[in-house]
Amino acid sequence: MSGDDLKLLLEQAEAEISTADAARIEALRVSLLGKNGAVTNLLKSLGGMEPEARKEAGARINHFKTQITDALFARRAVLDEAALTARLAAERVDVTQPPRPEPTGTLHPLSRTVEEIAAIFGAMGFVLKEGPDIESDWNNFSALNIPSHHPARAMMDTFYLQAAPNERPAVLRTHTSPVQIRTMLEWAAKQAAGEPVAPIRIIVPGRTFRADHDATHSPMFHQFEGLVIGPDITLAHLKGCLIDFLRAFFGVPSLPVRFRASYFPFTEPSMEVDIGWNKRTGEIGAGTDWLEILGSGMVHPNVLANVGIDPRKYQGFAFGVGLERITMLKHGINDLRLFYESDIRWLRHYGFAALSPASLHEGI
Ligand code: DAH
Repeated sequence: MSGDDLKLLLEQAEAEISTADAARIEALRVSLLGKNGAVTNLLKSLGGMEPEARKEAGARINHFKTQITDALFARRAVLDEAALTARLAAERVDVTQPPRPEPTGTLHPLSRTVEEIAAIFGAMGFVLKEGPDIESDWNNFSALNIPSHHPARAMMDTFYLQAAPNERPAVLRTHTSPVQIRTMLEWAAKQAAGEPVAPIRIIVPGRTFRADHDATHSPMFHQFEGLVIGPDITLAHLKGCLIDFLRAFFGVPSLPVRFRASYFPFTEPSMEVDIGWNKRTGEIGAGTDWLEILGSGMVHPNVLANVGIDPRKYQGFAFGVGLERITMLKHGINDLRLFYESDIRWLRHYGFAALSPASLHEGI
């Protein structure tokens, strides 16, 4: 191939390369520089030449090859640059755009009540305790001085689990009171082992279960239990503690609180606690009506004896409160079933911002 032919070939190739896209560039590289490409074949043809002619032609062909290689490289660089520019433009993030509103969840009103209870009783030196949903018959009933003929034990009230032959069936706990038993047993065992023990002061929120279902009863509901045990605990402590709690929780500093004699198997004396409200308007702390809120009493000596605590040395008080009930009263919720339906509209309305602290009007 003459020098002129080669020059012509180079011009043609360069013209083609200058407008080629990425795929075409690769095709041209193969057809020019590849194993059977034009340049390779030219180089192969050198073998049959005279030494002088070979030297001259070899230099020409190699120069041609360099030109082609450079042209391909340059075009590829232009294409890569253009592709990158296009990508940067397409993928740009506008950091000045306002954020899209994201849906945020809310804290369930029951969770909120537990937080408030923890805050109020925490300030009075109580610690939070938990117990299992599945309880032994002894912890749930017998140890709490609930006799075997008591209606709370009846099949129609209680969810019993399948029992092994000759064993008492376990139950889904019907109240949070069995955690009193668990706590006192641990406490008595520590004391028996000579370990130092502080008086018991616990608050126990948790799930409870009864075979009941209507607008104000659910087979699963929540309670919280309180227990205080020490050498010198009196009924005055019980009253002061519960009055402070109710006034702080409902945010009414002068809330009327009434203690009414009642009966629970595990306390003696027992009292139901009422607050003043207006039955017609639902306003709490106003009006002349009374509303029952919780059960309480001095821990029965039989219960203390059942867990190995000497009732002549120690005494204390306990109380149990329905979490749904006080939450419904505080927030004007009138159907218990809505607590468990996970209706997003209801949760948005009655829920609380997750990060807002449990602020109490009359925090202690
Ligand atoms: N366990 C009782 C219930 O579920 C509530 C209760 C009443 C708990 C009096 C107590 C108490 O600790 O002293 O109805």
